[in-house]
Amino acid sequence: MSAGKQASLRRQLIVRMLAMMLPLFILLWVIAYFSSQYFINAAFDRSLIRRTYALADRVEVLQGQVQVDLPVAARELLVFDQEDLLFHSVVNPAGQVIDGEQDMPPLPAYQRIRPGQLILYDGVKDGERVRVAVFALSLKGTSARGTALVEVGETLSHRSAMADRATLAIVAPMLLMTLTAALAIAYGVGRGLEPLSRLRDRLSARKAFDLSPVPLEETPAELRPFLDEINSLLQRLSEAVESQSRFVADAAHQLRTPIAGIRAQAEAALASARQEDARHALERIAQSSETMGTLVQKLLILARVDAAENTLRLVRLDGVEVVREVAREWVPQALAKGVEIGFETRDSEAWVMGDAQLLHEMLSNLIDNALRYGGTRIGLMVHRSGHEVAWRVVDNGPGIPEAQRTAVFAPFHRLSGSVDGAGLGLTIVQRIAQLHGAQVRLQAGEGGVGLAVDVIFPAAPA
Ligand SMILES: Nc1ncnc2c1ncn2[C@@H]1O[C@H](COP(=O)(O)OP(=O)(O)O)[C@@H](O)[C@H]1O
Ligand SMILES: [Mg+2]
Repeated sequence: MSAGKQASLRRQLIVRMLAMMLPLFILLWVIAYFSSQYFINAAFDRSLIRRTYALADRVEVLQGQVQVDLPVAARELLVFDQEDLLFHSVVNPAGQVIDGEQDMPPLPAYQRIRPGQLILYDGVKDGERVRVAVFALSLKGTSARGTALVEVGETLSHRSAMADRATLAIVAPMLLMTLTAALAIAYGVGRGLEPLSRLRDRLSARKAFDLSPVPLEETPAELRPFLDEINSLLQRLSEAVESQSRFVADAAHQLRTPIAGIRAQAEAALASARQEDARHALERIAQSSETMGTLVQKLLILARVDAAENTLRLVRLDGVEVVREVAREWVPQALAKGVEIGFETRDSEAWVMGDAQLLHEMLSNLIDNALRYGGTRIGLMVHRSGHEVAWRVVDNGPGIPEAQRTAVFAPFHRLSGSVDGAGLGLTIVQRIAQLHGAQVRLQAGEGGVGLAVDVIFPAAPA
């Protein structure tokens, strides 16, 4: 899975929450819309009814004639509204409009109005939706007969504006709440995951082969079972690694004595052997047992380096001093082979954090290689630059082809043509470098001839 496609916990939570909130939100909107419509209609209807009764109060009968006595001021009050168009009409028992509008929207066909009854209905007037209250005013007890119809209507713009506002007043906070919740989740998840990224930092800061348990402080409870599993895995792993390297060390140790015995016997037999082919065979045996001895020796060192991992105490060491010391030790062997060995440095000191014994072992392996496979000159150098200290072992031999420069670090990997040797030298070098947080780089030597091995350490803090 590529990093971009990895499901983000944060995004997942937010998407799920919004997916859950959306239908709820729509439902709430619908409920808010209809309920505010209902209550606002009820309030507006009440005022419409009041106006209708007020108008009905002004209807009087004079000598059998129905009339409306509506002073101008009262009329204005009755029909004036800031937002809505108000209109009215009064119809006498004969069906004639005696006041107000001629074309009131008709009462719905199914509605029958009885004397004394007031009915509210919806209609259309001049192309606009309107609400109308009609009151059947009984004229009983006057000089007229039958009923007069008193009607007051209004357009709906005020109502619907109010209903919209009421709906918004309910829905907007809800929307705000949802968005706030989404933000809170985004933030909360970020905060909640902080221990995870701290944990990652701690893990990535570990040394290469550190199998010690992950500390559990400061980790959220949800991560505990997970970390417990990881720790138990690390525990089992380090036990396995330990018993493996103990086994290798034991085996190597056990092999040392018999191999030394074979070699001693072969050499003794060689001294007294007369026949040429017997001498030849004995020489081969002596040589093979020497190679075997080296192999076993290197295995033992590798196992010891592995074991040193957990007990390692790095101290401040002057690289110039260490390299010069090891170089001096190798001078006799180099001279015996006719190889010139030189040491140079620009710096008077170059401090690193290290284990003297392991660094000695590392350098010895590199010099041993240069002596074995290199040419006639070996150079040792120590340079400090910025935050790094570089050690270099360079020779003028055949070098290692670029394509092989990674593979030679693998255990038992040797270039064709290298006769003896166990193929463990560079493996040991790399392991020791790793324990020091150092890097090993191979490149061509000076002028493209031979091999230059650089070990680059972080400089020790002053
Ligand atoms: N200085 C060198 N010049 C040329 N080849 C080298 C040099 N050092 C190492 N090699 C090659 O790398 C291989 C691995 O080296 P190493 O791990 O030390 O094993 P070993 O020396 O036991 O064979 C060697 O077998 C050799 O072929
Ligand atoms: Mg070697």
